[in-house]
Amino acid sequence: MTTDPFTTTTPQIAPSILSADFSRLGAEMLDVLAAGADFLHLDVMDGHFVPNISFGPPIIKSARPVTAAFFDAHLMITDPLRYAAAHVKAGAQNLTFHVEAVEDPAKVAREIKKLGCRVGITLKPGTPVEAIWPVIELVDVVLVMSVEPGFSGQKFMPEALPKARAIKKRLRADQRMEIDGGMNADTIAAARDAGVDWFVVGSAVFDHSDRRAAIAELREKIG
Ligand code: DX5
Ligand code: ZN
Repeated sequence: MTTDPFTTTTPQIAPSILSADFSRLGAEMLDVLAAGADFLHLDVMDGHFVPNISFGPPIIKSARPVTAAFFDAHLMITDPLRYAAAHVKAGAQNLTFHVEAVEDPAKVAREIKKLGCRVGITLKPGTPVEAIWPVIELVDVVLVMSVEPGFSGQKFMPEALPKARAIKKRLRADQRMEIDGGMNADTIAAARDAGVDWFVVGSAVFDHSDRRAAIAELREKIG
């Protein structure tokens, strides 16, 4: 388990709790961490920015005392700034917002940083990578979406890889690149090769009968 993934350059495996059994969320979180996960990815969806609804600050608040693991929130919501403080108060330590969701991403990144957390920018598969250039210097993490946001269990889109390479060229040593969607033992090595530091994994860990073996296999693929 990693309590601050920015302190290491080792590749990080971050299970998305979207794929957990929510009736026993605390136990599920502890289970994937005991199985070797580094930190947890929290997929917040509003049913408006994406065609699915997941959870928000009340669940994060309940989850917070369960573990000291880093909470990485992916805000798939229409007005991230409006809800940013509530997520930080609930215990999220990084807030990644979508460039498509805001008019002035640089302003949103600066405002989120003022809350005392880390900030990330992300883009949907169809959004050109140039859309994040005006904000890239201001963020701690760039999250490359390798599926359409909204649902776990989708197929990896290899179009994400050239995007990742272009992003990596512009990142400083203190910034990280993360990928989200369709990561599994067959796809993760190519993402690592493109320069990805943090790997969000939903179904390939949570739906596996042996989560420890699943994480070990993923780690083995990325060296
Ligand atoms: C998609 C979410 C992902 C998703 C990953 O909107 O952001 O985090 O849960 O799940 P898998 O690994 O199953 O694609
Ligand atoms: Zn996500």
